[in-house]
Amino acid sequence: MNVLVTGGGGFIGRWVVGKLLSMGCQVTVLDNFSSGSPKNLYEYRHNPALNIVCGDLLSDKILRRALLLKPDIVFHLAARINVQHSIDQPRDTFNTDVLGTFRLLEAVRPMRPHFVMVSTCMVFAPMDEVVGAGIGISEAHPVKPASPYAGAKLAAEHLVESYARTYGLPATILRPFNTYGPFQRIDGEGGVIAIFLDRVMHHQNLLVYGDGLQTRDFLYVEDCADFIVRAGLSPASAHAGARIGGGDASSDRAPFSLLVGGSGIEIRIIDLACIIAGNAVAVENVAHIHPQSEIKRLLCDSAKARAFLGWQPQVSLTEGIERTRIWLRERMNE
Ligand SMILES: NC(=O)c1ccc[n+]([C@@H]2O[C@H](COP(=O)([O-])OP(=O)(O)OC[C@H]3O[C@@H](n4cnc5c(N)ncnc54)[C@H](O)[C@@H]3O)[C@@H](O)[C@H]2O)c1
Repeated sequence: MNVLVTGGGGFIGRWVVGKLLSMGCQVTVLDNFSSGSPKNLYEYRHNPALNIVCGDLLSDKILRRALLLKPDIVFHLAARINVQHSIDQPRDTFNTDVLGTFRLLEAVRPMRPHFVMVSTCMVFAPMDEVVGAGIGISEAHPVKPASPYAGAKLAAEHLVESYARTYGLPATILRPFNTYGPFQRIDGEGGVIAIFLDRVMHHQNLLVYGDGLQTRDFLYVEDCADFIVRAGLSPASAHAGARIGGGDASSDRAPFSLLVGGSGIEIRIIDLACIIAGNAVAVENVAHIHPQSEIKRLLCDSAKARAFLGWQPQVSLTEGIERTRIWLRERMNE
């Protein structure tokens, strides 16, 4: 099976690549390494089934090179993912996340691979407005993009959906919840667990934006990669019932589905900070850098992914934090 992984040199992408290689797939990675790194793929450097195309998603020449093997599945992860960056420089986020997705869709249209778009839980409307306490966000939950990042991802999702309807491109949209683990950057706001762990190692207090009562549903990165790979390897038709609002699929030219994936456990950021800080450093509340784009509560209901993919997260938050801590410590000693 030939697969293309855009953003395969990034944090989640490198785990997706590793899993696909271990399953015997021929993997092409397309990455410009703007936020990823060739070092993330170092472990697989001797694997003849890995082909790395270093370049930009927006380049037709690079796309042609990356698609030489005519992939059966495209895993689309390449994106600018930093919320604050999207607020400061929305054009950059739009170019990669929307225009890049469009260019990729156009390039793969004649090949009709299974197109797996990795979107994000950041597109969802705040939970408190819609569902009660303890009930997680499912595929049917309304969207309300609160940042240019979320807006760009949603626009890209809609493009993918339109290609399924118009051109018969089998497509699956995935919305993983906040993902953490080894290989996550410590300088981005997305990697709160990695940032907290790194600060503890450097004897720095943990800084919590706002009151810290915002919650997140943290997914360990290998569980996230498993979610993505399972969704790609099962035909889109197998989970086409997992549609937005469960709507009528009869008018579609190709199967199209949407799946959310998270741990199903919600934790307040202030509590997370206290757990990671232990007695080693203090926890401080600081002014939020973008309160207007903060999502107050995030809790996932992955019942459909469980039913359609047989997927379930395997790594607890405690275990995942420990694995991340060990990785960061090893990296610090390198
Ligand atoms: N990290 C999370 O918590 C999380 C949660 C849900 C969804 N996601 C989604 O998962 C995907 C991967 O996220 P990540 O956390 O691994 O981020 P990441 O920044 O580590 O990975 C993105 C990769 O895309 C590459 N890239 C960016 N612009 C590119 C371009 N123009 N051309 C080619 N390559 C380009 C980067 O170099 C990087 O390797 C993203 O689509 C993101 O929206 C992430």
